[in-house]
Amino acid sequence: MDAPSKSTTSRTGLQVRLVARPADLPAPGDFEIAEVAVPDPAVGQVLVRNLFMSLEPAMLMSIAGVPGLPMPRYEIGEVMYGAAIGEVVASADPSLGAGDLVLHRFGWREYAVARAGLFRRVDRDAYSTPSTHLGSGLVAYVGLMDAAELRPGDTVFVSSAAGATGNMAGQIARLKGASRVIGSAGSPGKVAHLTGRLGFDAAFDHHDGPIVDRLREAAPDGIDVYFDNVGGEQLRAAIEVMNPHGRIALCGALDRQGGSRPDDGPGDLLGVIGKRLTLRGFTMSDHPDRAPEFDTQFRTWLSEGAIVHDETVIDGLANAPQALLGLVKGAYTGKTVVRLGT
Ligand SMILES: NC(=O)c1ccc[n+]([C@@H]2O[C@H](COP(=O)([O-])OP(=O)(O)OC[C@H]3O[C@@H](n4cnc5c(N)ncnc54)[C@H](OP(=O)(O)O)[C@@H]3O)[C@@H](O)[C@H]2O)c1
Repeated sequence: MDAPSKSTTSRTGLQVRLVARPADLPAPGDFEIAEVAVPDPAVGQVLVRNLFMSLEPAMLMSIAGVPGLPMPRYEIGEVMYGAAIGEVVASADPSLGAGDLVLHRFGWREYAVARAGLFRRVDRDAYSTPSTHLGSGLVAYVGLMDAAELRPGDTVFVSSAAGATGNMAGQIARLKGASRVIGSAGSPGKVAHLTGRLGFDAAFDHHDGPIVDRLREAAPDGIDVYFDNVGGEQLRAAIEVMNPHGRIALCGALDRQGGSRPDDGPGDLLGVIGKRLTLRGFTMSDHPDRAPEFDTQFRTWLSEGAIVHDETVIDGLANAPQALLGLVKGAYTGKTVVRLGT
């Protein structure tokens, strides 16, 4: 964040800092919630009041400082950050004005003051709640269209299918012509949610192993595309059940994000060779060109009632650290956001 201006109003706001780097999952004592004075924006800056911030499993890896991540680790003593949406309260830059709704990376704080160029104005009227701007649909779209090269008629399997990215991947796969969509999730309630409100054709609880047996039952004719949010046993099972020339989009590693247990990976790759499978890792930032196209499609699907925007809202910044842990323990469905203001 840019250096704050010296002039301050009497406005104060909460922010969350990491104060210790845990060896495993963090405990509440690893975070500090501080109330700080909020400076006025200096020339070229804006002051933004955050409305919602995103909670993401990858934040746990940034806390742990896992090497090789496509994002930097959080530093001890520094305010954490992540995607957020807020409203400009005061602007000292002509590009943004008070009342503008902006997307940015200064989450984990009630107020953000920084250079105007670090905030992106979004359409106030796009969605019924601004939190929808924090959704994971674009990740799902890029994974399906670019990494998995989804084709009409494909049978698609999605893991963590009741989560933020997974529920979007399943719904979008169907809208893009998949003939059968199968999801795995971590409780009977979530399984019912998948085949009920979210319209999956079949779903199973990943605790009811062996996963390969559950997957074969759900996909008797095999699967053509696997959208992998998890790794580990689910990835091994998918490789076993994939049809020849199947495609796997490697999106996430939830199997290891929920703790320090190493993911024992796909193991024997003979099946990958024999079936000519493609396993492709991707990040959303590889395909910036997809954003406008997805935005248009998503809005149309929402307006037609063809897609469900599924989210869980946690109230208050002080509850965010605990909610981050709850997120990887499977406490929520859909996209999990923290409401910081109204
Ligand atoms: N490649 C990219 O550009 C990109 C972008 C965004 C996110 N990601 C990654 O994609 C993955 C999904 O992200 P998300 O935000 O959509 O998270 P999410 O699926 O909403 O994550 C929460 C869910 O993870 C599931 N989970 C936790 N541990 C698990 C385990 N061992 N096995 C199976 N499920 C487990 C739980 O669901 P159940 O209750 O069903 O077990 C929980 O509800 C993450 O790994 C994330 O880091 C990648």
